[in-house]
Amino acid sequence: MLKVTALFKEYSDADHQTVQAAQNITFEVPQGTLFTLLGPSGCGKTTTLRSIAGLEKPDSGQISFEEQILYSSEKKISVPPNRRNFGMVFQSYAIWPHMNVF
Ligand SMILES: Nc1ncnc2c1ncn2[C@@H]1O[C@H](COP(=O)(O)OP(=O)(O)OP(=O)(O)O)[C@@H](O)[C@H]1O
Ligand SMILES: [Mg+2]
Repeated sequence: MLKVTALFKEYSDADHQTVQAAQNITFEVPQGTLFTLLGPSGCGKTTTLRSIAGLEKPDSGQISFEEQILYSSEKKISVPPNRRNFGMVFQSYAIWPHMNVF
């Protein structure tokens, strides 16, 4: 079971304005189930996924998988991405945008 609890993440935009990207996100994904984050552009879907993968450090909240805490602001735990065993397909090309399958 993946558990995301009370996840908050803010960014600073180009004008140094605070953007509340993820606000109090809580959900659970039991093993073997498909789960969809559905919402309007900018509501924080990618921010949440990046936080689960460990590519973004949330401001507060907790993320755990099975018995392991992957991130906890309270307990000051942040497991690095390569130790989380999570895969992620990026929304836009990440490494070789100029290459195709061939
Ligand atoms: N690195 C960043 N710096 C500043 N603001 C950011 C950054 N990443 C995301 N944001 C802002 O945080 C908010 C949430 O963005 P996010 O990419 O998580 O949304 P999304 O739900 O994935 O949107 P979309 O459906 O367009 O992919 C948006 O207002 C976005 O502009
Ligand atoms: Mg997105």
